[in-house]
Amino acid sequence: MLPLFTKQNFNRMENFFSIKDVKNIKKLLSNALKVKANPIANKELGTNKTLGLIFYNSSLRTRISSQKAAYNLGMDVIVLNIGSDGWELESKDGVIMDQGTAEHIKEAAAVISEYVDVIGIRCFASLKNSAQDYSEEVLQNFIKHATVPIINLESSTLHPLQSFADLITIETNKTKPRPKVVLTWAPHPRALPQAVANSFIEWMKEADVELVVTHPKGYELAPEFSNGITTEYDQKKAFEGADFIYAKNWSSYTEYGQILNSDLSWCVNSDKMSVTNNAKFMHCLPVRRNVVVSDEVIDSENSIVIEQAGNRVVSIQTILEEFLKK
Ligand code: CP
Repeated sequence: MLPLFTKQNFNRMENFFSIKDVKNIKKLLSNALKVKANPIANKELGTNKTLGLIFYNSSLRTRISSQKAAYNLGMDVIVLNIGSDGWELESKDGVIMDQGTAEHIKEAAAVISEYVDVIGIRCFASLKNSAQDYSEEVLQNFIKHATVPIINLESSTLHPLQSFADLITIETNKTKPRPKVVLTWAPHPRALPQAVANSFIEWMKEADVELVVTHPKGYELAPEFSNGITTEYDQKKAFEGADFIYAKNWSSYTEYGQILNSDLSWCVNSDKMSVTNNAKFMHCLPVRRNVVVSDEVIDSENSIVIEQAGNRVVSIQTILEEFLKK
């Protein structure tokens, strides 16, 4: 017998893997502004509910903001650091597990679902194999085998909680209905994933903004994200008249995971900010000072990186409320 409500006719969020899981972005943003105005308005909503946080990789903001949001809703929190505290998990089907992995995600996801009501997972890209990273094997396996909602805390290719916080930050700082938002690549000594840039573009495509992306040649993002966007290879020209400058490094997608350029002339500095429309400076953090952005810019009154990080509590709390209200 079919269940009364199937995934097709149940018009609510099942998981938060990407912006595609959001049924109504305007409504979600409106809910976020209510959370921001009064973070403890729903203090009882999460009573007797537990948030499980699974980290394959390091974190400062995601870890603490998720815990803080859960506490604001009256939830308990359990954190598992895969690698240091937990068994190494297998994500491939049909594998003979006689190597390093001790447990399959099939069991792990189902078992963790017995203990918690919502699971957040962070698992970065390997940057070795684009097909594998872009298949989102780990997060998709958790979604398949868990019996509770999954929240993406930054996967191989996406960081939707960051982008939602970015949208909230732009909404609350904009001085005109349709601001010009520039996503600029910046140098970095290590090869970093494309997740933040990919997600930011996805969310800005849905927002009422003029988006321009600037990067050196060779740093074009995957077509599913870069198609239809305005790209300007001259960074200073891209900055002209901008209301928001969002700096982020990412490694090459076309020469997958490679650093093709370490030219410090791409660092965001006061000279470049001078051609903007008194733009606010944004970065998801952590940031390498005087590599990605000069001290002068990040320490200026136009820098909103701390408020932006503060909005990470708002973004995950708004998503948790979606699941708890179900
Ligand atoms: N921006 C962000 O996700 O920060 P953490 O890596 O410190 O969580």
